[in-house]
Amino acid sequence: MPVMNKPENVKEQYANDKNLAARIALHTKHSTNKQGFVPWLFEQYDFSENDHVLELGCGNGAQWEERISALPNGCKLILSDFSDGMVEAVKNKYSQHGNVSFEKIDIQAIPHPDESFHAVIANHMLYHIKNLPKALSEVKRVLKPGGRFYSTTNGNGGMRPFLHNALKHFHPETTAFTQEWIFSLQNGEPLLKQYFSDVKRYDYEDSLSVTKTQDLIDWLHSTVSIASFSEKDIIGLFDYFEEIRNRDGAINIPQESGLFISVK
Ligand SMILES: C[S@@+](CC[C@H](N)C(=O)[O-])C[C@H]1O[C@@H](n2cnc3c(N)ncnc32)[C@H](O)[C@@H]1O
Repeated sequence: MPVMNKPENVKEQYANDKNLAARIALHTKHSTNKQGFVPWLFEQYDFSENDHVLELGCGNGAQWEERISALPNGCKLILSDFSDGMVEAVKNKYSQHGNVSFEKIDIQAIPHPDESFHAVIANHMLYHIKNLPKALSEVKRVLKPGGRFYSTTNGNGGMRPFLHNALKHFHPETTAFTQEWIFSLQNGEPLLKQYFSDVKRYDYEDSLSVTKTQDLIDWLHSTVSIASFSEKDIIGLFDYFEEIRNRDGAINIPQESGLFISVK
């Protein structure tokens, strides 16, 4: 099973929001598209008054910072995650908002009746799921007819081949960052079309231009892909990236991410 959807790895990785926060920080600081993924995402969301919205795998809820009060009148939002640590993090951040509630939910068994929600969101999380068909049929079940499913993900290109090539300098046999996402920009549409009538893909054009090598090293530390690397390897990697940064002025890394909007 790929390292990123092995249940024990996913549980450990998201026990609290530390790893996730380190990864979001790299993108916030060094993305070349200055609009930012989240502001772009909110331009794609289409919520109406009195909508019931469920977010699954919400993580630390970073996308809602300063945006909850912009929800249309009467909108109710449930922020959920299967990790206690993440539910705790969003409770601490957002419990002052009367229209937001918090639940521990595994996407593979959503404890809500059929046709409960006008919109369901699952951002950058479907690639972690062990039983993706079960997860997608659960999402479809709890959506109202005509309801929308928003799911963001990454592409198989982008950062992963770049990082794999860098790591190969130290471990020629490494397989880190070679496994394809089980839910990616490339395969998402045919997967979603098995459950939803209308599926559209929207790409967010971006890349990274990293001007502080340590930020990239911190990002790598937050993933499970370099668990087998020693401290000596990491120092070697730092020097390798630092040389690129000195030569090019920045470490330039391609990115592939985007959104599917699926209608039930
Ligand atoms: C990469 S993070 C994304 C967090 C957030 N959606 C974002 O885009 O910043 C993946 C999240 O999915 C959660 N997760 C993983 N498997 C899950 C499952 N089976 N059901 C619900 N949440 C899950 C993890 O705990 C983690 O918070």
